[in-house]
Amino acid sequence: MLPVARPSLPPLERYVALLEQIWDTRLLSNFGTFAQLFEARAQAYLGNPFVRCTASCDLGLVVSVAALGLPDGAACLVPSFTFNSTINAVLWNRLRPVFVDCDPVTFNIDVRDVRRRLGAVAPAAIIATHVFGSPLDLDALLKAAREAGARVVVDAAHAFGSVYRGRRIGAAGLGDFQVFSFSGTKQVTSAEGGLVAAGGLEDVERIEKLRAYGFRWNYVSEVVGLNAKLSELHAALGTLLVGDVEDVVSRRNAIAARYRAGLSDIGDMAFQAELPETRSTFKDFGILCPARRDELSAHLGQLGIQTKKYFRPLHGMPAYARFRSADDDLVDTEAVYSRILCLPIFNELGDGDVDRVCEVIRNFYGVR
Ligand SMILES: Cc1ncc(COP(=O)(O)O)c(C=O)c1O
Repeated sequence: MLPVARPSLPPLERYVALLEQIWDTRLLSNFGTFAQLFEARAQAYLGNPFVRCTASCDLGLVVSVAALGLPDGAACLVPSFTFNSTINAVLWNRLRPVFVDCDPVTFNIDVRDVRRRLGAVAPAAIIATHVFGSPLDLDALLKAAREAGARVVVDAAHAFGSVYRGRRIGAAGLGDFQVFSFSGTKQVTSAEGGLVAAGGLEDVERIEKLRAYGFRWNYVSEVVGLNAKLSELHAALGTLLVGDVEDVVSRRNAIAARYRAGLSDIGDMAFQAELPETRSTFKDFGILCPARRDELSAHLGQLGIQTKKYFRPLHGMPAYARFRSADDDLVDTEAVYSRILCLPIFNELGDGDVDRVCEVIRNFYGVR
């Protein structure tokens, strides 16, 4: 089976050498040597000293939204075309999600729809995702948010290694909090793990408390926190891989370019468009099928090629359907979802595999 995603791992003996250190020190958690080293390497790469690790991106999002300190029931704009964690962070914080549509070309949050909703909803925050690692239009979103007095949390789960107009996603100023994932499906992994990039000292101190039961070192909770600590075993793996990010992202860009070249003459085939002066990580590579998406997916599956129809829009899920409102306009989200198919992409995917997937798809659509 050619999997849709597959993590890159370091040589086992390099990881075992770090585990031996952990066995010696018996320091398993509580931001020990490896959590600090993982943070330091990520800070250096992102050029942001206010980066802290968490047990997952999911929990990183929960503590980031909590750090905004918004009143119960405050409205938050969220895209429907994203992963479930984006909205779960809103709901765990007892806020009210309001769906916004995606841009059918970039698949990212549609800032025109954000603006359309601002007057009626007066959101306290906007949570937006860099879909598949392709940076959303941050200038437009941050401007709209500023004018509306709304805070911005960015679900950057896919975006470790993404670049927006000369700045790495995660640099200060590209959102109040930006949250990365290092789970096993990501371009750089720590098996499970996340990073929160804050914009300044006060915000990062809030994260430090929220991710560790509400206190720092003294057992006196100043806020209601939770356990979002990254274990040393996970952090150690992260320290070995985090430095690979540039190589990984350039390989994934090459894979994406090869897919595009191999599929672009299929009539009505479309690809996720990147904004000018941005670089995607291609955590996923999504195509918009001209027709018969489900049939194509089944056909590829029969030939041992795994795909996924992703993201499944949130507004149709039992947990979230009740947050739809009469004036939602999610037509582009539904249109993208009806055609999207994510093809295999991972750091070690060979050109031959890409060519084989392209050939199967070309044959399926009768293009020689
Ligand atoms: C867009 C997005 N946000 C958040 C998450 C959650 O990340 P984690 O698994 O690290 O909690 C994912 C996971 O794939 C994701 O795709």
